[in-house]
Amino acid sequence: MKTLSFTKKIILGLMMTLGVTLGAQANVGALVWDKAPNKMNDMAALQNGAKLFVNYCLNCHSAAFMRYNRLQDIGLTSAQIKDNLLATNTKIGDTMKAAIDPQQAKAWFGVNPPDLTVIARSRAGAGGTGADYLYTYLRTFYKDETKPTGWNNMAFPNAAMPHVLWELQGDRRPVYEEIEQHGALVHVLKGWEQVKPGTMTPLQYDESIGDLVNYLQWMGEPIQSTRVRVGIWVLLFLGVFTFFAWRLNAAYWKDVK
Ligand code: HEC
Repeated sequence: MKTLSFTKKIILGLMMTLGVTLGAQANVGALVWDKAPNKMNDMAALQNGAKLFVNYCLNCHSAAFMRYNRLQDIGLTSAQIKDNLLATNTKIGDTMKAAIDPQQAKAWFGVNPPDLTVIARSRAGAGGTGADYLYTYLRTFYKDETKPTGWNNMAFPNAAMPHVLWELQGDRRPVYEEIEQHGALVHVLKGWEQVKPGTMTPLQYDESIGDLVNYLQWMGEPIQSTRVRVGIWVLLFLGVFTFFAWRLNAAYWKDVK
């Protein structure tokens, strides 16, 4: 009897937790994060992401826990890293340091651009994984003259970061829809209108951001694909081992019964 009520308690607890989670999700504002593509095993995509990261993000952000030579894990040779990714005064064993001086960054933007090494792991939320957040964040900048940088962001309202990829994406304007929610009129994002085209088509831009986000994700946990590979072998071993243990057990107890 006692165990039963204990089980019931657990089930009740689980149901309550689920209810709380669902409730929390329902309260999130109008923006639903877009699902980031998974290209974790696509070396070409990760390399493209690394290139975008070095070219467009390292000006302001560091990845202080990441060394350039680690990029060999995503298939780049040390010559390729040296020729294409290293700035003149950096060495291949260096960590990825921002070009900008942190003091100056603070003075310019009001906040320090955060280190991005583990950013993909720190931004998971009710709207999805950290990767989903980044994928949405980097695709939802729009012009806003009331902001110091001239830009605003849909996933991170009032972000102090300008739209550094605007040349690629062009200029887009959010289009809102007025809907009634619990008797009140609220504005909900309906879609985007391209005001000025970028050098990339919307599809190419989304793909590039997908690559960049996968790179950020990889950087947060460079050994994750190794771990998955090792994990599969461990599970296989355990499976085989279980079979032998089961047969041995039967053999040992055969005469006792
Ligand atoms: C001109 C400088 C600059 C560049 C270049 C830049 N950022 Fe930022 N970034 C910032 C600043 C400043 C912040 C802090 C924003 C804030 O907290 O309001 C920021 C914040 C962020 C955040 C954190 C958002 C959050 O939820 O807290 C992410 C992620 C990010 N940047 C990604 C990138 C990526 C990826 C690139 C390259 C495509 C990039 N940034 C290029 C200045 C920059």
